[in-house]
Amino acid sequence: MRRAMADAEVGDAWYGDDPTVNRLQERAAELTGMEAALYVATGTMANQIGVRLQAHGAGHLVAAEERAHVATVEMMTSAVLAGIAYRTGTDSPKGYMTAALARRLLEPDEAFDVEVVDLLAVENTVGGYGGTIFPVDELRKVRQIANDAGVPVHLDGARIWNAAAAVGLPVTEWTSQVDTMMFCLSKGLGAPIGSLVCGPADLIREARRIWILYGGAWRQAGIMAYGDPRRRGRRRDRARDRRVALRRHWCCEGAVMGLFQKSYPPEIAERIPPGQRLVKTWPVLHYGPIPTFDGANWDLEVSGLVEEPFTLSYEELRALQTVTVDADMHCVTGWTTLDNTWEGVPFRTIVERAKPAAEAKWVIAHCAHGYTSDLSLKAMQDDDVLVAWRNHGQDLTPEHGWPLRLVVPKRYAWKSAKWLTGLEFSDKNRRGFWEVRGYHVHAEPFAEERYSYQEGPRADLEP
Ligand SMILES: Cc1ncc(COP(=O)(O)O)c(C=O)c1O
Repeated sequence: MRRAMADAEVGDAWYGDDPTVNRLQERAAELTGMEAALYVATGTMANQIGVRLQAHGAGHLVAAEERAHVATVEMMTSAVLAGIAYRTGTDSPKGYMTAALARRLLEPDEAFDVEVVDLLAVENTVGGYGGTIFPVDELRKVRQIANDAGVPVHLDGARIWNAAAAVGLPVTEWTSQVDTMMFCLSKGLGAPIGSLVCGPADLIREARRIWILYGGAWRQAGIMAYGDPRRRGRRRDRARDRRVALRRHWCCEGAVMGLFQKSYPPEIAERIPPGQRLVKTWPVLHYGPIPTFDGANWDLEVSGLVEEPFTLSYEELRALQTVTVDADMHCVTGWTTLDNTWEGVPFRTIVERAKPAAEAKWVIAHCAHGYTSDLSLKAMQDDDVLVAWRNHGQDLTPEHGWPLRLVVPKRYAWKSAKWLTGLEFSDKNRRGFWEVRGYHVHAEPFAEERYSYQEGPRADLEP
């Protein structure tokens, strides 16, 4: 692709005379069923042009679901560039705009309400909820409500082609229901850069003016526009079709995660949680640089709500009775490895020595660089939980957690915290490093508990 891009015919996109960009824009308009399209640098710029086109001035509002990209990541950008704020709310657990939510957001709730909502922004797939799909039927109802309120609709379709592939519908099913839309070439379409704003010709003409105003007009953009989806569209990729068919079912259910769903022999398949794939290597993923272990200043501190807090030097730890545990490992990013043999000290040994108070319900693991992870004491007391320093008979390598890592096989692997330095018992849960960043407190792979939005009310109540 890069060689082809280098050969692309280019011109000055500012003046509309880059032939490669022009072809891409025409093709985008054709595929989305819109009159015209404009090729811009980023999805954010595309959304911001869509918002600015239809929001009529400072102090006005745009309505959106509360985790919509425009209303969260782009909130400040919209305030600065268009002078608007967002009116948000939520309804569906999958995060898409529903008719009920649109009605709530668009209808003035009091006779003296003078807030002006200029635009309804919707999203597909819904990124803030793991890539869920906006059902076409619901969008049709939303459109009707927007029509009744006299408000146009902008679709953030950053990943709309994923939705179209997953449910097997043309994108026009969604785009025909909105006034303007954008999609990203750089997400799921394999192109390195760029997004397209699409809509009626007169609005896209105005979009060009805003694009220039925002400093978005660019020269020789054809080298990037060459990486467009047109070529791919012409060739039928049967392997991809098969993957799409496999993914369709669980895409519709919610999480668009992991690209390939392989089939495994039944005895293996039953050990692979939903949405996971088997890998042979052991990928390295972690927060922060790999710490250097110096035995002299490393220790393990056991603290919090316990009768006997204690600290172990590395020597003391290694002198304790060890066990080996055979367990599978499931990373929330989608990989699974089977039959890992871990060696270390059972967590129960630490519990027996520390004697947690009756109120202690949670365990917070403390690690290098301030990384933490939390789990219920109940989950931690499983037979296979240990603090380990060997894997498959070898000392752990520094990138896999040497000198000590927690191993909690029945939870996603971020709970098996590397470079462990402390275990704190607590009566209240304190969300760990990833848990505050939107990941699940329980994190059970077979229940596919990946994200905090799936937690529901039980997370803090039921340890
Ligand atoms: C739903 C959605 N809209 C818009 C954007 C913005 O795209 P960009 O990163 O190209 O600015 C993103 C980025 O991830 C996104 O997920």
